[in-house]
Amino acid sequence: MKKELRRAVIAGNWKMNKTPSETKALIEEMKPLVADADCDVVLCVPFIDIPAAVEAAKGSNIKIGAENIHFKASGAYTGEISADMLKEAGVEYVVIGHSERRQYFGETDQTVNLRTLAAVNAGFKAIVCVGETLEQRELGYTETLLKYQTKMALTNVTAEQLKNVIIAYEPVWAIGTGVTATADQADEGNGFVRAAIAESYGTDVAETVTVQYGGSMNAKNADELLSKVNVDGGLIGGASLKAEDFSIIVKAASK
Ligand code: PGA
Repeated sequence: MKKELRRAVIAGNWKMNKTPSETKALIEEMKPLVADADCDVVLCVPFIDIPAAVEAAKGSNIKIGAENIHFKASGAYTGEISADMLKEAGVEYVVIGHSERRQYFGETDQTVNLRTLAAVNAGFKAIVCVGETLEQRELGYTETLLKYQTKMALTNVTAEQLKNVIIAYEPVWAIGTGVTATADQADEGNGFVRAAIAESYGTDVAETVTVQYGGSMNAKNADELLSKVNVDGGLIGGASLKAEDFSIIVKAASK
């Protein structure tokens, strides 16, 4: 295991929170707190907040991401946002396949794959989410499921394109529930993801891919989670809406 081969990435996922003016205020508050981070710092924000976020983050080490991307270049897809739109807005990262998208908006492993391809083809960094439900875990399917979701998401993604892919292991039962996976469970889940990548691309490639943990990561548990060899960063929901808490997680990843 070679953790030093991988860049730690701490990404906030704001979900459906904050208006444009609130976005500006929160990023202004965060900027000095994360300025000396020794990891990549990303904020994935609602589409409507992107211009305010890009403007507020200008000249800082904070990169801005979107929470989704459509796989078609343009057309009759009401409510969707294309790669070109995101590019012009100054977005660098996109979250794909979040469990809330899968659960509430009908995203499938196939659409997750298409969106991942659209993102890497357009030169974005894709944060692709995978994770098991509590029922799947209790049935003993965690490893099978994580490997399947990872491989499906990466279908037709080349080794070169994989350099722009981050996988976020987010056990569904830990998201927004306050129930965090133990550090060992996070490490194990991330290890299953890395093993799936190794099966498709070889061990050397797999060792270079950043695999985040997400699901109730916070200022208190980040240190322990991020100390694990397979945990290369975090995708942070609730705690990314509080400047101080988010900056503590960034500091934990910078050690
Ligand atoms: P949470 O969300 O940190 O609020 O659990 C994580 C996520 O859904 O990415």
